Amino acid sequence: MKKSIDEHAARFDEKASEYDDSKSPEYRACADLVIDHADPGSDDIVLDLATGTGAIALALAPHAERVVGRDISEGMLEQARAKADEQGLENVSFDQGSFREPAYSGQVDIVTSNFAMHHLADAEKREAIDVVAKLEPRLFVLGDVMFFDEPDPDEPFYSPEVDDPATVGTLADAFTDAGFSLTAVERIHGQVGVLVAERSGLDDGGVANGG
Ligand SMILES: C[S@@+](CC[C@H](N)C(=O)[O-])C[C@H]1O[C@@H](n2cnc3c(N)ncnc32)[C@H](O)[C@@H]1O
Repeated sequence: MKKSIDEHAARFDEKASEYDDSKSPEYRACADLVIDHADPGSDDIVLDLATGTGAIALALAPHAERVVGRDISEGMLEQARAKADEQGLENVSFDQGSFREPAYSGQVDIVTSNFAMHHLADAEKREAIDVVAKLEPRLFVLGDVMFFDEPDPDEPFYSPEVDDPATVGTLADAFTDAGFSLTAVERIHGQVGVLVAERSGLDDGGVANGG
């Protein structure tokens, strides 16, 4: 991680009030694909990590039993809570938690995260994916800045001084090592995509078959 958690939180606290105002078409396409692939049913509990102002969490809440949003920036969480109130959504909550310490240990069926894991170093992304795997969701939908092509630092999707995007291959390895199978890879741009990871072969005790 090129900045500490506190530094990232402070950066997003500052941006929070105008965060929703300017979003690139690629961001919007990515968020839409995360929402489409997550596709929760009415008895699903969704955990949205690095939820920000709640773009994904608020879109999924009307379809899910409950949505839990976690973020490190209190400013972003306040915006998300205000939007939930405005929209009259009572089955969504927003509280502090990070990728590697999400502060959530209940049942979770679907984990989502959009445009945020690129703040972690690759080894930290791997830890975060392992933490999610231990929560035993059936599905993890990750939209983010990720490299399909040779990275070009002049492209607008990340800031090399604060961001640390992974290659798609690095992320795919981390998912499979954590017991997920990748069931879809959506390329939006050479540096933006969505990975859909499923945990299959779970027996009734939640233990992956075959080791
Ligand atoms: C670009 S915003 C994306 C927000 C939201 N997911 C969206 O799609 O609009 C990145 C978010 O990641 C959060 N964040 C950064 N590092 C984090 C970490 N280690 N754990 C949890 N959230 C983190 C920031 O506070 C910020 O709200």
